[in-house]
Amino acid sequence: MGSPKTFNNFINGAWVPAISGETFENRNPADTSDLIGLFARSDSRDVDQAVAAAAAVGPAWRLTPAPHRAEILYRAGQILSERKEAHARDMTREMGKVLKETRGDVQEAIDTAFYAAGEGRRLFGQTVPAELPDKFAMSVRVPVGTCGMITPWNFPMAIPSWKILPALVCGNTVVIKPATDTPLSVVNFITALADAGVPAGVVNMVTGAGGAVGKPLLAHPEIRLISFTGSTEVGRDIAVACAQSYKKCSLEMGGKNAMILLEDADMDLAVEACTWGAFGTTGQRCTATSRVIVERGAAGTFAERIVQRARALTVGNGLEEGVEMGPCVSESQRRTVESWVQVGLSEGARLLTGGHAMKGKGLDRGWFHEPTIFTDVKPSMRIAREEIFGPVLSIIPVDGFEEAIRVANGVEYGLSGAIFTRDVNRAFRAIRDVEAGIFYVNSSTIGAEVQLPFGGVKKTGNGHREAGTTVLDIFTEWKSVYVDFSGRLQKAQIDRVE
Ligand code: UN1
Repeated sequence: MGSPKTFNNFINGAWVPAISGETFENRNPADTSDLIGLFARSDSRDVDQAVAAAAAVGPAWRLTPAPHRAEILYRAGQILSERKEAHARDMTREMGKVLKETRGDVQEAIDTAFYAAGEGRRLFGQTVPAELPDKFAMSVRVPVGTCGMITPWNFPMAIPSWKILPALVCGNTVVIKPATDTPLSVVNFITALADAGVPAGVVNMVTGAGGAVGKPLLAHPEIRLISFTGSTEVGRDIAVACAQSYKKCSLEMGGKNAMILLEDADMDLAVEACTWGAFGTTGQRCTATSRVIVERGAAGTFAERIVQRARALTVGNGLEEGVEMGPCVSESQRRTVESWVQVGLSEGARLLTGGHAMKGKGLDRGWFHEPTIFTDVKPSMRIAREEIFGPVLSIIPVDGFEEAIRVANGVEYGLSGAIFTRDVNRAFRAIRDVEAGIFYVNSSTIGAEVQLPFGGVKKTGNGHREAGTTVLDIFTEWKSVYVDFSGRLQKAQIDRVE
């Protein structure tokens, strides 16, 4: 066996090792004997260089016409399309979700590239009437400056793309710190941007640990904005750090997403959607279905059906044909899942299936965990309230629609939600009343498209929305402009004709 491939940081248009000269390993969670490569173990010195590079080219990039910036992004979208299969394979290898899903992840980056490219000829502001004669009033978007990004491992290319591409079309420059579990997908993404013609310094990547790379990024005075996706606990620390240095800060955090299942629903569809929502990406999505709130009359049938589906899922290496669920991303993530199973048992929830780490042929070298389902879960239990981020589903029986809504809203998160019913009136009431940033009728809690806002309420977010046109409000500041062509001093609010 040859020596493992080494991957460097990307600073000022060049691939450079960490100043420390050190590296960390990236291993396949489905087979830990598979070493994907060594990545730069960076620290604050590398961050300083990356930020300096991004800040230096900021003025030139800001003044590059937006349609021209956008054309580069369009090319990046084309390049990613050509490389989609290879990037999907790399992603499955480094984080475990099955090929179909990693293809979707790369596709989401492609979609975002084309959508952001279109924005290059829009970036709409407003023109409004002025209250004084011979005066013109308008608002324009201006870039924020040098942006820091801290991204997770569960959507290792899609989520960086949600941040980087809109930031670029708006005229910002970027330093990104990828999750340590999935740096290769970000290397692939950055390579596509560089190949598309993003000028040196406009996008920089520094790999390494949160403490060594993330912290200095948060504290750096030249960074004007931090965009973060990850856990609610880390998100709070990031908000505090940003407050201390007056940075703009957008946070996309945890979820405890509920699917409401009413007795009149199409049961086949609900079972299929819930299997996908709960066990897709091994449950490691912020939008994962982790609660099914089901009308008591349908609870028994639903439980029976979903248990059958969960037991029949083929778990294994996501690169293999026919595998439906991959491993947890790491040993520690699997340990977390195992400890949640213990919490559920000790709280008195009834374990219907799963509950164990998986062993046996083809599974011993990976972090596999059985698809797990609890029923008779009470809304007050921790497994019904806290984010698990693994293949664990809680079934919560309730007495009717009103209680279902109350239970859905009885958690501290509010990312996505869903209702399965054939009753259009109750569907619309749920749309109105469920506290969530994303809501689905007769579809799973996952499946957001890039042209609508993505984000949530309560402890899921801090009021921002990625994707759609709302992401532009993260990566631009408004400037209101008044042009007075009267030739005299006119005073607003004062020179009014009564
Ligand atoms: C996430 O859940 O972490 O909505 C992101 C979806 C994807 C994005 C999910 N398009 O399922």
